[in-house]
Amino acid sequence: MQAFASTDIDWRRGRAPLFVFLNDQETHDVGRNAYFDFFTENALGGTRAFFGIGRMEKEVLDCGLDLFQAPDGAAGSFTSGGSESIFLAVKAARDAYRARHGRRHDGGLNIVMPDSAHAAFDKSADVMDLELRRAPLYPDRRVDVQAMRKLIDDRTILLVGSAPCYPHGVIDPIDAIAELAVESGIWLHVDACVGGWILPFFKKNGRPLRDFDFRLAGVRSISADLHKFGFCPKPASTLFYRDRADQERAMFVADAWPSGTFRTATLAGTRPAGAVAGAWAVLHHLGEQGYRKAAARLADMTDAYLRDIEAIDGMRIWARPDMSIINFGSDSYDIGAVAKGMSDRGWLPTLTRRPPGLHLMMSLLHEPARQDFVADLRASVADVLRGGHGQSKIEATYG
Ligand SMILES: Cc1ncc(COP(=O)(O)O)c(C=O)c1O
Repeated sequence: MQAFASTDIDWRRGRAPLFVFLNDQETHDVGRNAYFDFFTENALGGTRAFFGIGRMEKEVLDCGLDLFQAPDGAAGSFTSGGSESIFLAVKAARDAYRARHGRRHDGGLNIVMPDSAHAAFDKSADVMDLELRRAPLYPDRRVDVQAMRKLIDDRTILLVGSAPCYPHGVIDPIDAIAELAVESGIWLHVDACVGGWILPFFKKNGRPLRDFDFRLAGVRSISADLHKFGFCPKPASTLFYRDRADQERAMFVADAWPSGTFRTATLAGTRPAGAVAGAWAVLHHLGEQGYRKAAARLADMTDAYLRDIEAIDGMRIWARPDMSIINFGSDSYDIGAVAKGMSDRGWLPTLTRRPPGLHLMMSLLHEPARQDFVADLRASVADVLRGGHGQSKIEATYG
């Protein structure tokens, strides 16, 4: 198996700009050990058999409710990842709409979201037969809320804002979208999958960031992944509802089959107890101080990357990011050709289409890799300027 993996991208040295998230080795080991201590148990049985796992799950969710300033009566679910959390929020919003308007509108319902919202919404919309309406972004890459307003009609079941969005790492104006949600009576889901578990600590460290949590009256649900910047083992995400009744809407209940009532708040039935134990252990290991320290290091690292990248002739940062996600490109040369040069030098390049950019979603694996990265970026740009790489052959892909 090690031989199979011998040609993998060298992620341990920060060569992958996505997929893996690390704080430090100790945190990694704490999560891994807890995961394997509960490798065999099943979190589906957390209330009937594995009471320890049930308790850990509840305590992890309570941490999240606290972090996002949830009011009394709020509830959370522990899921397998951002896509599942988003799927459940969409289902709950659809069922809330049905409860209000009856089923007659089925087939013609829509979601209004920023152009930069994650493709997990496309997946959910496809499964639930919903139309997606994408609102344009301002030059700072945050959504134009007036454009969202114009896309709404009486069949809109959901508004979306990201904290931050994946392509640019910026937080949408959630306060303005929340006002729109209150005014229109439409459900607002905040996709904080990537940033949810770390941004509050950027803020506590004094970074001026927009609010995106339940303090904003229109926010009805929030997704936040533990397995990204919570530094917990995969698969682990959380979904929070302002009102427990909304969690009921996401609930799947089947009663007709021979084995009686089957009722889950998640899409998955069987769930890895290890992921719950790993998350509990990492949250307790890091605590507020640990996350604040990680946030401070991420912020400094991002500032250093931004400085170095902007110092390269012709290079432009497409948006000032709110966390450690950077997207950059150039008006004077082909960034795809630069990406080819980076690939030849052992880096996994991730590209965006709108605008053509190189994308980095960086955890602390990328802190020691900065000088190598910048040196190779400089060399790749120089190659392109000499005409060394011709037309780019790398496509913008994800996953
Ligand atoms: C903003 C955002 N939402 C949702 C997701 C989907 O998460 P997952 O890959 O855990 O399903 C991602 C993944 O990067 C993301 O960045």
